[in-house]
Amino acid sequence: MGNEQTYDLAAVRAALPILREVTYLNTGTVGLMPEPVLERHLAAQAAYERGGHVAQEAARDAYERARAAFAALINARHPDEIALTRNATDGVAILAAGLRLTPEDIVLTTTQEHPAVLLPWAAAERRGGARLRLFPISADPDETLAAFERALTPATRLVVVSHVSCETGIRLPVAEICRRCRERGILTLVDGAQSLGQFPVDVQAIGCDALTGNGHKWLGGPKGTGFLYLRRELIAQVEPMLVGDGSIQPDFDRVALGDRPAEAAWDYAPTARRFEYGTRNWHTFAALPDAINYLADLGWGAIERHCAATSTALKEQLATLPGITLHTPTSWDQSSGLVTFSYDGWTGEELSRRLWDEYRIIQRRVQVPSAVRVSCAYFTTDEDITRLMAALHELRV
Ligand SMILES: Cc1ncc(COP(=O)(O)O)c(C=O)c1O
Repeated sequence: MGNEQTYDLAAVRAALPILREVTYLNTGTVGLMPEPVLERHLAAQAAYERGGHVAQEAARDAYERARAAFAALINARHPDEIALTRNATDGVAILAAGLRLTPEDIVLTTTQEHPAVLLPWAAAERRGGARLRLFPISADPDETLAAFERALTPATRLVVVSHVSCETGIRLPVAEICRRCRERGILTLVDGAQSLGQFPVDVQAIGCDALTGNGHKWLGGPKGTGFLYLRRELIAQVEPMLVGDGSIQPDFDRVALGDRPAEAAWDYAPTARRFEYGTRNWHTFAALPDAINYLADLGWGAIERHCAATSTALKEQLATLPGITLHTPTSWDQSSGLVTFSYDGWTGEELSRRLWDEYRIIQRRVQVPSAVRVSCAYFTTDEDITRLMAALHELRV
């Protein structure tokens, strides 16, 4: 987890003014943008909106810097392997629409995936694409791997797994799953929405073919920023379903396309830019590198240690409260800053609502298991945890 560097928690919290009003334990749904990043973000919006085409080149340059920043963050070999998207769901949807799979093929995923994974593949199956099948995951990685092995068939073409489950916070053995898939010639897509920004996510170390993520959760970046990483060799296998100016090569040329554009000599761009077209929200991406740099300056090792320490402290305190069932593994290597628990006498829905309505503690309910999910982020304090525990004591039935 890196060296012993720490950061000034009070200064970090002062840059997040909402923390003066509420106990914010829901970075897993949407993160908070620190004020210095917000200033840059708003300035970039203003510059492009005021400058129009005069400011377009600068906005596009900033957009390319965001691509490079995402690429560096996940250790992609080249920014050309990154398609910039609006969110993590877009990355899944691009593959569900563009990978050439038949109704005989199987896409295998887990029972704890976000709708971002389930719905694009379910819709693809309805359109006559591959069949979507699920396998259960467990707090014990060996059990998860055994269930994964049992679910594999000769028809499995793609395995899609969360790096960290958005429901139970279980960290999946993604590198091992990808290794086993590679051995069998099965493609892999990792959903990094709940891991990116919490601990290192290295696509080369994981060995996945694709990884989707976003800027708006643990990175505290702008809403509407996401990316799809595609290993260079895979890009040509994914046909863009939405195409326009920017997604082909050579660049659009009216003369060359002539009267029969479909028959003219053009192809989709050989890079992940093939999924981007038209006038885009270039300026929305401008502050993404600022958000990443802000956290990098605090120190990735320090952030990871902080998330580990606060979530571990929370789990230890939850274990002392009668009626609590913890759904998240206790070991940091098998979990993350997400902590999910059930409380006897409460549905997740009711407990979540009461924690917000009466205690101004923002978290999220989980449907299966019926539970509440709390996010311990780089700015979470012991006092946040104490407030949550005090509320749970009061709500004991
Ligand atoms: C694991 C996981 N994947 C995907 C998403 C969807 O992310 P986005 O809203 O960026 O599409 C979420 C959001 O909560 C998530 O937790």
